[in-house]
Amino acid sequence: MSMTWVEIDLGALRENYRAIRALLADGVKMAPVVKADAYGHGLVPVARELDLLGAEYFGVNDLAEARALRDAGIEREIMVLLGVEPQDAGEAVSLGVIPVVYSRESLKGLDEALRSLGAKVRVHLKMDTGMGRLGQPWWEAGEFFRFAASLETVEVTGLCSHFSTSDEADKGFSNLQIKKFKEVVETARHAGLDPEELHMANSAGIIDLGSSQLSLVRPGITLYGCQPSKEMHNACALSQVMRLKTRVAQVKTLHAGSFVGYGNTYVTERETRMAVLPVGYANGLSRLLTNRGEVLVRGRRAPIIGRVSMSLTTVDVTDVRGVIEGDDAVIMGFMGREFIGADDIAELTSTISYEVLCLVGSTNERVYLGGSVRRA
Ligand SMILES: Cc1ncc(COP(=O)(O)O)c(C=O)c1O
Repeated sequence: MSMTWVEIDLGALRENYRAIRALLADGVKMAPVVKADAYGHGLVPVARELDLLGAEYFGVNDLAEARALRDAGIEREIMVLLGVEPQDAGEAVSLGVIPVVYSRESLKGLDEALRSLGAKVRVHLKMDTGMGRLGQPWWEAGEFFRFAASLETVEVTGLCSHFSTSDEADKGFSNLQIKKFKEVVETARHAGLDPEELHMANSAGIIDLGSSQLSLVRPGITLYGCQPSKEMHNACALSQVMRLKTRVAQVKTLHAGSFVGYGNTYVTERETRMAVLPVGYANGLSRLLTNRGEVLVRGRRAPIIGRVSMSLTTVDVTDVRGVIEGDDAVIMGFMGREFIGADDIAELTSTISYEVLCLVGSTNERVYLGGSVRRA
């Protein structure tokens, strides 16, 4: 067992899933986004829980993630959000997954590969309705759809798009994207396509833009227990699924005027009881938390002093009674009544909870709590 580890609370994951499900209109299906190793929470254990709860689809990045789900016995629909390269078309067919196709070129490549295999695949076409990232631009929809409709190797069973600002207070641009998407759907029907699934809502869309729910939604961050942003109009009660823990390696008393850590960036102003923690930026704890931020020890907050280094971090525990070597410390998550959120860390390090979860989750041993699966 490592000295620093991540706990994944599958009970919290289940509660978040139910909270999101409760926001959906009748009949709307869920495609939990479990890409990037389920935002660092572990693809298979997370998907297994959500499968048991009845998630209809999963959204993964690539075929490697899709294969991992199939190998784990998951039989639900799987959308491959970054698409499938022509040389992998055969595997997409054998895994029975749905590639997202985002350009005429990628559609052409897939068609050629499938023709040589004599195979057919279901696809969802991704439209850029204003985000300006992956997807066929909406103004080229007609030609794109007519081309898709002309191919015998692909069956277009879905159309999708993605929001760029659904987590912002001003929903004007998102509403424009919804309008454009609805127009694009009409264009698809005129081109002879009959997509069963229409989807564009991420977590923020689900919470704040009811009209974006369509037939299917793709929640990510909310499943893992973080709000999409502080600007949400509507509420959704969530609990953070990930907790980063470690154990105090050393406790010592420094005289007033002592330096702490690399670069002597901190000087004690008083006699200071200091705890050294075996956690650092190699564990996904940003070096930007140097001399800022806190950890939890014995249920109390202890400020980080000195530089966060690769595998060690120093904290001031002068005001926390009775800290001894071997005590548990929580870097992120709950301890007693105190809580340090991925959002709190993100704010201090000028990023978003998504990045904090991915970094912390992918660099530490994981222990699963509250579910059928105990270990990664
Ligand atoms: C295509 C797509 N859909 C849905 C999501 C889920 O977004 P969120 O985590 O904000 O719910 C993502 C996440 O980046 C995504 O790329």
